[in-house]
Parts: sequence; C-alpha cells; structure tokens
Amino acid sequence: MTARVAILISGRGSNMRSLIEATRAPDYPARIALVVSNRADAAGLDTAAAAGIPTAVVEHRGFPDRAAFDEALARELDAHEIDLVCLAGFMRILTESFVEHWRGRMLNIHPSLLPAFKGLHPHAQALAAGVDRHGCTVHFVVPELDSGPTIVQATVPVLPGDDEASLAARVLAEEHRLYPVGLAMVARGEARLEGGTTVFAGKAAAG
Ligand code: GRF
Repeated sequence: MTARVAILISGRGSNMRSLIEATRAPDYPARIALVVSNRADAAGLDTAAAAGIPTAVVEHRGFPDRAAFDEALARELDAHEIDLVCLAGFMRILTESFVEHWRGRMLNIHPSLLPAFKGLHPHAQALAAGVDRHGCTVHFVVPELDSGPTIVQATVPVLPGDDEASLAARVLAEEHRLYPVGLAMVARGEARLEGGTTVFAGKAAAG
C-alpha cells in the first residue's frame, strides 16, 4: 500500500521539495497528497503547486487559539485521507491532542544530532559547544519539542572556519538525503513507534 502523506511547512520548503522528488520513484512507498502551510507567503507553496501537489493554507492568525488552529489543520488532513504527516520547517507548536492523534504517524526533521541542540538555532548551539560532529535527525513527533524517538540520523563534520551559514548548508544537504530515507522506513513499517521507543523491523533501539 502506498501511504498518503501531508507535508506541513512554514517557509522555503527545500525538505518538502526533496520529499516530493523522492516519492516520484515508482517503488517509493509513499506519495505526497497535500502540502499545508500556516503562512500564505511560504515560498514552498509555489514549489508544491508547480509540482502538481494540492496545497492548503491554514493561517494560524485566523484562529483564536492553538486548539482551533489544530482542528482546522485536522480537517484538511482528514479531507485528503492522509496516512502520515511530515513536518518540514513547520514553525508552529502543535497541541498535545493533535500530536497524540498522529502518534507514530507524524515525523519531523531537526538539524542537529538529537538529543543535542534542541529548539532554535541548533547550528549556532553546535558552534558554541565546540563539537566536531553535527548533523540532522528524523524522528517521531511527541508532545515535547524535538524529543521524539529517532528514526534515522546523518552526521557531518564541523570544519575549521565554519560559521552558522556554512554549517547549516552542509547539514541541509544531508537533510535532503535523509528525510526521504526516514519516511520510507516508516511507510514500509521498517520503523515504528512503540511506547516511547522506535522499533526497527523486529529489533528495539534506544529512543
Ligand atoms: C530545515 O533545516 C529543517 O530541518 C528545520 O527548518 C529548516 C527548514 O528548511 N526544521 P526548509 O523549509 O525545508 O528549506
């Protein structure tokens, strides 16, 4: 079965683009059925439309609170019969009930080797910490921000002279490769969330 995926974005959507491109392969186990943005001016909306993907704008400013926004989001996902949700540069915190509803079926990509450097400005955090390895993580979404169990990670070196921009660019190239890998693992049932842990086709791994 081919999973129907919605991608939630807020901005340029380069990870969204890499997912759209990957899902075009005939043997890929998922299709992008919808792209939703909470901002009407997100550049990624044009990219998705140009690729022939249905798009929707659910502007958070139009709702009195997070719960009402999330309900509108849920209606879009239901209307498009979505199986899996990918957050890709989606800059809104979702309510616990929304996250619980999609538990095990919602993924995020974060540009750090979680659990290191959660939250904003992970590249600046990595440079400030002086690490020599950095990277990105595809993980299941749980209510606590950037804390869900890992599905897959990629590592890049931190090089002498790196600044936030050069490090972000090196990580972003890996993000584009990694997110389609993580989504395929979940769509094929090779990685699934059980309790608070990712289980990989028969063997349990640390969350
Ligand atoms: C990516 O670095 C992603 O990991 C982070 O926000 C950025 C979004 O970039 N959560 P894009 O919109 O996918 O180009």
